[in-house]
Amino acid sequence: MAARSLLICMAMQGEADPIIRALDMRSVPWAFDPHLPFRAFSGRRNGANVTVTVSGIDPRHGVDNIGTQPAALQAYLSIQAFKPDMVISAGTCGGLEGRGFRIGEVVASSGEFLYHDRIVPIPGFEAYGRGHYPAADTEHLARDLGLRTGAVASGNALETSARDLEFFDRHDVAAKEMEAASVAWVCWMLDLPLYALKSITDFIDHPASTAEQFDRNFSAACANLCETVVRAVNWLTHAPA
Ligand code: ADE
Repeated sequence: MAARSLLICMAMQGEADPIIRALDMRSVPWAFDPHLPFRAFSGRRNGANVTVTVSGIDPRHGVDNIGTQPAALQAYLSIQAFKPDMVISAGTCGGLEGRGFRIGEVVASSGEFLYHDRIVPIPGFEAYGRGHYPAADTEHLARDLGLRTGAVASGNALETSARDLEFFDRHDVAAKEMEAASVAWVCWMLDLPLYALKSITDFIDHPASTAEQFDRNFSAACANLCETVVRAVNWLTHAPA
């Protein structure tokens, strides 16, 4: 069924800006408690409401709010404010050169959303810690848009450990990032389908510094992300992608 109200949750303003421009969105000043940093931008596409929310700037440190904590609160409040029938978690990610992914390639979620650094080896809490939230079915979307798919794993570090890499191998993880599993937790509780679209800025299985790769490739990855998100919005609202 075509989306009538689509919410796109994003962390960094720099990731979102090209999409906000491409979809001709306007700021929605009433969306959040003014004490909170989150920002919303809305527009119309093919008869549907489409909203991008971003995590905003941390006033103490002067940088974008990133990571799982802001993502959960932002997702919940965005859903309350905009009542979407579908949610997209969009942004950048680390990818795996060894599996043939390319810098700037946009990966679609499939299977499940996981936490790679919530490691609680106590019976029952092991699976809880990892999350295992279901991803919406992206088979047709990915086929039509020419995207590769895989599980998306979230945590609160830019750096990657050997233990993370081993976990990614075991769980068919194609994108390592810092928000999607928290958005997935909220969507799972509220029974909303979640798609993730993540553009690769850096290889996590490469000796080069992650931060340097991220800085070098950020603009190109965000341009590709924008193009894919616009096509996905068209597809999900049932216009030619
Ligand atoms: N976002 C972009 N690259 C990332 C990485 N390597 N880890 C976590 N989040 C990212």
